Amino acid sequence: MSVTVFNPRIDDAAVANTIASTPTVTALNEASSAQSPVNKAATKKVFVTTQGCQMNVYDSGKMLDVLGDSHGMEVTHDIDEADVLLMNTCSIREKAQEKVFSELGRWRKLKEKRPDLVIGVGGCVASQEGDNIQKRAPYVDMVFGPQTLHRLPELYDQSNEQREIAPKNRIGTIDVSFPSIEKFDFLPEPRVEGYKAFVSIMEGCSKYCSFCVVPYTRGEELSRPLDDVLAEIDSLAEQGVREINLLGQNVNGYRGEKDDGSICRFAELLHYVSHVDGVERIRYTTSHPLEFTDDIIDAYAQLPELVSHLHLPVQSGSNAILAAMKRNHTIDVYINQINKLKAIRPDIHLSSDFIIGFPGETEQDFQDTLNLAKELNFDHSYSFIYSKRPGTPAAELPDDVSFKTKKERLAEFQKVIIDSTLAKTHEMVGTTTRVLVEQVANRHPDYLIGTADNTRTVMFPYDVDKMDELLGKIVSVRVTDFVSPHMVKGELIEMLA
Ligand code: SAH
Ligand code: F3S
Repeated sequence: MSVTVFNPRIDDAAVANTIASTPTVTALNEASSAQSPVNKAATKKVFVTTQGCQMNVYDSGKMLDVLGDSHGMEVTHDIDEADVLLMNTCSIREKAQEKVFSELGRWRKLKEKRPDLVIGVGGCVASQEGDNIQKRAPYVDMVFGPQTLHRLPELYDQSNEQREIAPKNRIGTIDVSFPSIEKFDFLPEPRVEGYKAFVSIMEGCSKYCSFCVVPYTRGEELSRPLDDVLAEIDSLAEQGVREINLLGQNVNGYRGEKDDGSICRFAELLHYVSHVDGVERIRYTTSHPLEFTDDIIDAYAQLPELVSHLHLPVQSGSNAILAAMKRNHTIDVYINQINKLKAIRPDIHLSSDFIIGFPGETEQDFQDTLNLAKELNFDHSYSFIYSKRPGTPAAELPDDVSFKTKKERLAEFQKVIIDSTLAKTHEMVGTTTRVLVEQVANRHPDYLIGTADNTRTVMFPYDVDKMDELLGKIVSVRVTDFVSPHMVKGELIEMLA
């Protein structure tokens, strides 16, 4: 792992009910630095911190890839030995955004001691703030957005040139444009560690939910062409990846161009991905109920590779709030979709995102949200107190709910979610579950660990002679014990794939 992950889904104001499993990040491997023309003594080291969603985690991996490819830079986890510091930022909630400047304050002290340090700020705060970043933090050398991270090598060279020409009067380099989807054409071949990988299939979002900053920071939806996506997945599968997580803010809005100029929609993409040799499991993050169409639901009947887990953010259980959020669907539509899916996959595990304390949320609206969570019995969910984002339509709405009330509602809501998470994990005991075997357990080398469809970590004892045979395989495990809200113990039944 090459990236320090700070997950804003777990910030103080909005403690998430569960923690997503640690994502796999593309990292520079030995081979890449060995092939590099750069001599070892001059090899620069790059350190990255990542805030925010899986898209940012994916992007951070790509930043490391491009700098490794272009400048032979190596990744370091030790900030004190780094030559380049990159911060991949998130602006989804105010708290995350504020952390950017407090962290930059610490980096400034490092730079005072080591003036050669190059500091870059990328991600959504960079996109939103643009040259304000350098106004507020003039020691920042590079500012780049989610769509321009592939230009990091040029920005790095330019900032070094400026340093030589006018060391005292640097202006820094900045590129936070939205140059369509060219980024993907400039990224090196994906490299992986482990058996799981994320593949970005689209950028941006055009849903414009009234509370959300993403369409402004990441731009409107743009899908990668089908062949590009499949080529990346092919390459990952050849390197041993068994589980693909298709990534985007609104993946079920995917409209990728095919070779013949026609458009491939998300359900069709799922079929293509399931046919890639080596791909045993498909997940996707994240989708919007409005485009969770019947063809996607039908794919669950046709594609065993699709895991029995769906993360479908609903945000609220109240129709009035959904309308104010501009989600453009009702609760009945959502429940209907879930019921259709359950008819096809009775074992489906559900998770969702909720915003508590949206402007104007009445006690009744909140009760409706609580009731929805109880009725649908989510496997886990993320919940956040509404955070006013400048420039979004909801920021203009009158908000008569006190912060104290919002915090109390969040606590009450999260209790319901935590209880159902715990109950779901306990219910696994005595059942058989499909697990992708990933590694030997760090602290219990007698056990292998892997992930179940419902994202729970599963540990089971194994025969050392069989280890190589088991790693990277899908196996069936009978669950025998509850370990923690997100972990169970079991015994191996058989190898499935
Ligand atoms: N399409 C992405 C949305 C990214 S934002 C996805 O569904 O994952 C992730 C979550 O952050 C949203 O689902 C929402 O619950 C939460 N969120 C977004 N804007 C927010 C805001 N202004 N305040 C609080 N939570 C917010
Ligand atoms: Fe944000 Fe709504 Fe898109 S939550 S990312 S505008 S689907």
